[in-house]
Amino acid sequence: MTFKSFLPECAGISDNGNLHLGGIDAVELAERFGTPLYVMDENEIRKNAQRFVKSIHEHYGGRGMVSFASKAFLCKEMCRLAESEGMGLDVVSAGELYTAMEAGFPMERVTFHGNNKTPEELACAVSNKVGSIVVDNTFELHMLEEIAKAADETVKIMLRVKPGVEAHTHELIKTGGIDSKFGFAVETGEALAAIAEASGMKHIELAGIHCHIGSQIFDMEPFQLAAKVMLELMHEAKTILGTELSELVLGGGFGIQYLPEDNPAPLEKYMESVAETIKETCERLELTPPAVGIEPGRAVVGPAGITLYKVGAVKDIPGVRTYVTVDGGMTDNPRPALYGARYSMTVANKMNLPQDKLYTVSGRCCETDQLGANILLQEINVGDMLAVFGTGAYHYSMASNYNRLPKPAVVFVKDGEARVVVRRETLEDVIRNDV
Ligand code: LLP
Repeated sequence: MTFKSFLPECAGISDNGNLHLGGIDAVELAERFGTPLYVMDENEIRKNAQRFVKSIHEHYGGRGMVSFASKAFLCKEMCRLAESEGMGLDVVSAGELYTAMEAGFPMERVTFHGNNKTPEELACAVSNKVGSIVVDNTFELHMLEEIAKAADETVKIMLRVKPGVEAHTHELIKTGGIDSKFGFAVETGEALAAIAEASGMKHIELAGIHCHIGSQIFDMEPFQLAAKVMLELMHEAKTILGTELSELVLGGGFGIQYLPEDNPAPLEKYMESVAETIKETCERLELTPPAVGIEPGRAVVGPAGITLYKVGAVKDIPGVRTYVTVDGGMTDNPRPALYGARYSMTVANKMNLPQDKLYTVSGRCCETDQLGANILLQEINVGDMLAVFGTGAYHYSMASNYNRLPKPAVVFVKDGEARVVVRRETLEDVIRNDV
């Protein structure tokens, strides 16, 4: 299937026919900072963050919390941005936690996730007094009780629960069903048993339950269903165990537009529909409404990102296809290879030309490495600049050094100004740990 690109909100076209991002010419950005280059529009990130924060407060007042899922995109500047927008931070490893610590992010606003946290990571989270730890399994629960005891601390936790909800998204990013490695299942009674056990522990303060059903979800129904199942579990905890849980975190997963035909509902609609479900379910079950948290990642940063590449060889194979090769690939964007992800893209220095030539855009890694097959683009020549949209989430954070390629820089643009927030790796960086 072929399609033409759409322009994200942060992009526009200058009089000279070049793409501009955050008020700056994309070709100028590429010349100044090199390629491949991750460009992120700061205003767009802030706007998305503000919409989530405003919406959660509208529905839950001071009992609502938005935590940015840092796995989508993290660097110290992103921590500072998240803090300044009143968000918490969801981290999943010592590396993400350390980034937050080094950026001076308030630890009480950090939630520590993960299905296999190490004892060292848990000890680090406890000694740095992170806001809460989302416990994934019984082994971890026991380990944490021991660590908290040794540190003479009481640790606030939530339990990761799989509500058994089918989210309509890619197989590899579904996480809420029974066949998921994350958390305690509801339907087997495992979750209720974990609540019983955790609430009896001396150094554990069980605040509530957490779920995350998947990512890049467009339907509202699975979110509503998950909220309902979670509240029913809270009700069971109260009536069967006499344990009242005060917090409910529903994870992230809000879908974004990658292709012209993608049409996710505005986030306010998701928020409203889930808030209604929570209200109705609490009334029906006579449950005190819990504090509610969400953890968006992709929807905060995804639409703000654009990757710029320089075009190298253009290879026409008569009767087969024309390959356009760029100076990045699966190292800066592994998503096509992993999930068959597709993107809207354009030739940044030829915005006034029609997108009517069919190309397959290849990366430079030594395997198939395609960023997109059968894409309609402007007529391409060596030296042109390719812009791929929607690359703000799970791109820099998933980048690798395959083929010993240095990772690209990340540049924030805002109102005509650009600044590096992550420096480009050098060849020295590539061999830094070699002995
Ligand atoms: N909370 C938890 C516990 C999560 O596991 C995730 C994402 C999120 C929040 C944020 O989800 P989001 O709002 O970004 O959908 N690498 C994949 C996505 C994996 C998502 C993993 N968990 C991709 O590139 O599509």
